[in-house]
Parts: sequence; structure tokens; C-alpha cells
Amino acid sequence: MTTRNLFLLPGDGIGPEAMGEVRKIIAYMNEAMNAGFVTDEGLVGGSAYDAHGAAISEADMQKALAADAVLFGAVGGPKWDDVPYEVRPEAGLLRLRKDLELFANLRPAICYPALANASSLKPELVEGLDILIIRELTGGVYFGEPKTITDLGNGQKRAIDTQVYDTYEIERISAVAFEMARTRQNRVCSMEKRNVMKSGVLWNQVVTATHKDKYSDVKLEHMLADAGGMQLVRAPKQFDVIVTDNLFGDMLSDVAAMLTGSLGMLPSASLGAPDGKTGKRKALYEPVHGSAPDIAGQGIANPIAMIASFAMCLRYSFGMVTEADNLEKAIANVLDKGIRTADIMADGAKKVGTVEMGEAILTEFKALSA
Ligand code: IPM
Ligand code: MG
Repeated sequence: MTTRNLFLLPGDGIGPEAMGEVRKIIAYMNEAMNAGFVTDEGLVGGSAYDAHGAAISEADMQKALAADAVLFGAVGGPKWDDVPYEVRPEAGLLRLRKDLELFANLRPAICYPALANASSLKPELVEGLDILIIRELTGGVYFGEPKTITDLGNGQKRAIDTQVYDTYEIERISAVAFEMARTRQNRVCSMEKRNVMKSGVLWNQVVTATHKDKYSDVKLEHMLADAGGMQLVRAPKQFDVIVTDNLFGDMLSDVAAMLTGSLGMLPSASLGAPDGKTGKRKALYEPVHGSAPDIAGQGIANPIAMIASFAMCLRYSFGMVTEADNLEKAIANVLDKGIRTADIMADGAKKVGTVEMGEAILTEFKALSA
């Protein structure tokens, strides 16, 4: 039987609650489908800091490196606001991305028909929305050096962050965007700030050259990132695939999340390059929402982004396409039935907590899998 090694990092805040619902789906798939998932679990973020004084322990890093896929919940919370910068909760996530070389972050923003009214935009603008943001994840200002605060000695300090991109980094992320576009509507919009940033000039050149070289069948458009943000809320359905750098991708994906009704709906996959020998890629799957400390522990968090992240894991790490389709369909069906967590609640719908939402999705998934 195939063994599929999953390393679970539930993290902080609502992370563990959301992960609990995925665990039930894994158990069902092992029992009913012989899926062969073998799970191990570690600590990341504030919970790792409390236990080990680090945002992730070396032992857990090794397990993440060895796993077929990592499922990640969320990190952070006010409890750790004052811990040293190097060991702040987010450092655990950033180290995972960097050490696993997860350069391609796929953030699909899909507006389920049943949720068109939950969006802050008019329903007709978001109904049927299906865009994919491809965010570069291991470069740019997140990791560029120098990254410092220096005392200038005159009562002033100077903070420096550095935006750096090399050609190969832009080539490989644009290749992912073009490849993904070919499986969708075959359109890519690249976003940068070439009018202000040298890294934007190079980004634009390399995306253009990669397109000309290997992907001229795909329709390519360029937009300045600020204008892109404006277009995302003005007419989001004009986009198919958006490719952009680490920082713009962070911001634009939060904007895109709200188009779909709630931050609680958006899954993501962070992928490395395929291994030369095995063809396997390192991968981490996480909901785009954060740890939501304000609602943690109350059993009201929306587990959909976490469950949809697991669906992406089935699709991208294990090629379990039917199962992934069914799990995504199960989410859509539950929403169609008017079952809602508080963040996506609507008039006349049935308000449920995390566990009830998870169970409703599992029941639907079982029915679809039968
Ligand atoms: C995200 C988050 C992270 C990021 C934080 C938690 C470091 O906002 O995944 O979008 O900025 O990348
Ligand atoms: Mg973010």
C-alpha cells in the first residue's frame, strides 16, 4: 500500500481547531479508501516558542523536510507580541518556506455561488469569480539583506529592508504562472512597480522574455501593482492568473480573499521545484487566514480554508484528483445548503461552529465518494 507522509503543524490561535476538522477527513480516507496517510505532528509559532524558545524546533524542521507534504494551520497572537524578532511566531513559517524552498505560492480565490452575497463587493462583480494568484514566496523584501535597524547616533534610527530578485527567481515563478494558465483560461497578468523599482523593471523584462521564449501561446498582460489592486476590486473577473512578487502577493491575496466573502475561505499551496530524480516537490498547504486570536478557542472559526488547503494537498502532492474534486464539491454543497460559520453568515442560513461545519463537509464528502 502507498504510504503518504503528512506532517501537521496546527500552530496557534484557530489553527488547531481548523486542523482538527482535517484530521477527521484524513482518518476517513485511511479507513474507507486505504489512502495510507501517516501523520506526525509538531509545533510552530508561539506554541513552539513556549515549548522550545524557538518559532520551530530543529527536530520539527527535519520532519517537515522529510515529509511528502506539510499541513500548516496559523501562527501568532498578542501573547507573543513582545518576544524577540528572530523568534517571533511568523519566523517559523518564513523558515519553513525558505528552507523547503517553497518559491511558488498558489492562492486561488474562488467565489462560491452561495457566497456571492457575503462579499463586500456587489454580488454581480464576484459571482463565478475564479482567479489564481501566484505569489513568489522565497525572495523579495521578505528575505533580502541588509534587513536592519541602525542607530544613527543623533537620536535617529534607520530601518532598511531590501527588495532583491535574481533572473532565475523570476523565470521559475513566471513559468509556474504560464503552466497554470494553460490549465485554465490561458491568461496571465504580471504585476510589479517598474515605474519606481529596479526589481520591477527586471521582473517585467524576465516575465516578458520567459513568455516569448516558451509560453507565447498564453495571453500575457502587465499591470502596475497599485493599478492591479484597484482593478481587483473594480472588476475582479477580468483576471485569470496573476503573478507577482512576495510583498505585492501578500497584499493582493488578502484583497482577493475578501472578494470571496471571507478570509476564512481561502486555501493556499506553497510548492518547491520538482526533484530531478523523483519528480516530487516539497509542499506546504496553509489557509491564507491568520490565527484570529480574537475568536480562538470558541469553536466558531471557519475551517473551510484549512479543508480546502487539504484538497489542494490531495491534488498537488498526491495526484488524488477525484478526491480533491469531491472535497471541493463537498464544501460547495454544504454552502448551497445554507450552512454557515459566523464569518459568512447570511439571512435565513443556519449558523454553525467549527466542528459542525467540518462534520457537514465530511458527511457530504462521504456521500460524494461512495
Ligand atoms: C501570509 C501571511 C504571512 C506573510 C505572515 C504570517 C508572515 O500574511 O501568508 O500571507 O506575510 O507571508
Ligand atoms: Mg498575508
